[in-house]
Amino acid sequence: MVDPTVFRDVLAQWPSGVTVVTTLAAPTDGSPEQTAPSWHGMTASSFSSVSLTPPLVSICLDRKLYSHGLISESGLFGISVLAKDQAEVARRFAGMVPDVEDRFAGESWSTAVTGVPLLDSALGWLDCRVVHEHEGGDHTIFVGEVLAGHTARKSAPLLFHSRGWGQFADVMPDVATLADTSLVDDHVAAAEIAGAGVRVRVAQPMLTVAGGTSIVVGDREQAMASLEAGVDVAEWLVDPLVPGDLDRVLSGIEGIADRSSVHLLDAFGASRADAVAGAVSAFAQERVLEICLQDRAGSATPLAIRHLLQEVVALARPVPIRLGLHDRDRLGLVKAITALKSGVSHFDTSATGADGAVSTEDLVCLLHEVDVTSPVDVVAVADLSRRLRAPLNPAEAEPASAPTAPPPAILREQLGAAG
Ligand SMILES: Cc1cc2nc3c(=O)[nH]c(=O)nc-3n(C[C@H](O)[C@H](O)[C@H](O)COP(=O)(O)O)c2cc1C
Repeated sequence: MVDPTVFRDVLAQWPSGVTVVTTLAAPTDGSPEQTAPSWHGMTASSFSSVSLTPPLVSICLDRKLYSHGLISESGLFGISVLAKDQAEVARRFAGMVPDVEDRFAGESWSTAVTGVPLLDSALGWLDCRVVHEHEGGDHTIFVGEVLAGHTARKSAPLLFHSRGWGQFADVMPDVATLADTSLVDDHVAAAEIAGAGVRVRVAQPMLTVAGGTSIVVGDREQAMASLEAGVDVAEWLVDPLVPGDLDRVLSGIEGIADRSSVHLLDAFGASRADAVAGAVSAFAQERVLEICLQDRAGSATPLAIRHLLQEVVALARPVPIRLGLHDRDRLGLVKAITALKSGVSHFDTSATGADGAVSTEDLVCLLHEVDVTSPVDVVAVADLSRRLRAPLNPAEAEPASAPTAPPPAILREQLGAAG
C-alpha cells in the first residue's frame, strides 16, 4: 500500500478550485428560539461535475465531519464557487480561523429552491438535492441533482495547490499585436509602420494605407466618414467617470461595434475600478472589436495592472483587452510582461517611445525574448525608429556608430544578417 505521507503529498500536487458547501441543520427540539433550520457550511475542493442531463454534481466529504451528518440528514447542499479574493472565506469555512462564532457573518447570502444558503459574492452557485450517497472509504461521495444555479460574478477563481492558496494566471499568449499611437500625419511614415506589421493611428482618414489603420473619432458622424474613407478601426475615447460619456459612445458605435476600439482613459486610476469594470461589461455586451485600457499618465503600477486585468479580462470575454502602456520610470516592459501573463496580447506602443509610451521596438524585442510571436517586422521597426530618432540625436543617424549598450539578441542577429 502507498505510504500515507507520500499519498497526501501527491494529492497536494493536484490543483483545484475552492467552494463553500452549505447545508441546513434541523431545528433543535424544544428550543423556543430555534424554529427554523440553521445554516452550516464548510470549505470543499472535492466538487466535481458528474452529468449534464440530468444535471448532477458530486462532493466527497469526510464521514467524521459535522457537515457530513447534516447533508446526509437534510439531503440538501449548496455549492458556492469562490473567487480569487475569497481565500479568507475559504479559511473561515475550513475551520482555519480561530474563535469564529459564525462562519456566515460578514457576507451576504441568498436562498433559492432548497433553502440552503448561497454566497452572493461567489463566482457562481448551485442549489442541490442529494440523489445518491456512495461509500468511498472514510469519505462519502454525495451526488446532487442541481435544482437551480446562478453565475453571480465574473472574476478569476480561487485555487488551492500544494496546501496554499493561489490564483489562475493565464499562460503567455502565442501571438501578440501592436498598434502605433503616435498619431502619424505623414503618408510615407504611415505606410512604413503599417508595412512593418504595426496597426497605425493616422491623423486624418486620407492617410489610409494597406496593413491596418485606426483613427480617433469624436462622434458617430466622424466614425462613419472615416470608416467609409477606408480607415479600418474607429477609436473612441471614454472616461468611465464622466456622466453620460459611456452612453455617448454606446450609441455612437451602434452598427459599427465590430470596427470600434473603445479606450477607457486613466483606467488604472485609484477608485476607478468599479466604473472601469462596468464600462468593460457594457462594451463587451456590444461585442466591440477591442477594449483598450489606457494609462496615459503612467501612474499604473505593475501590481495595479495585474489586479485590474484579473477582473476585466474575464469580464470582457470574448472581446480582447488592449493595453496602452506608459514607460514611466522605465517600467513599461515590466508592465507589458505582467499584462501578457494576465491574458492581454494587444498593445498600443509608439515607434520611438514618443509621448512616454512603451516603444514599439522595445516591446517587439521583449516578445521575441519570451517566445511570443508577433506579425511585426523587427528589422523594419528598428530601422524606422532609428531614422525617426535621428533628427533629435544625430549620433543615431549613422547605423554604423557603436551603440552604448549591446542591442537585444534578436536585433544583433537580424541587423548582423542584414549587413
Ligand atoms: C481548500 C480546502 C478544501 C477542502 N476540501 C474538503 C473536501 O472536499 N472534503 C472534506 O471532507 N473536507 C475538505 N476540507 C476540510 C474541511 O473544510 C474542514 O474539515 C471543515 O472544518 C469541516 O467543517 P465541519 O467540521 O464544520 O463540517 C477542505 C479544506 C480546505 C482548506
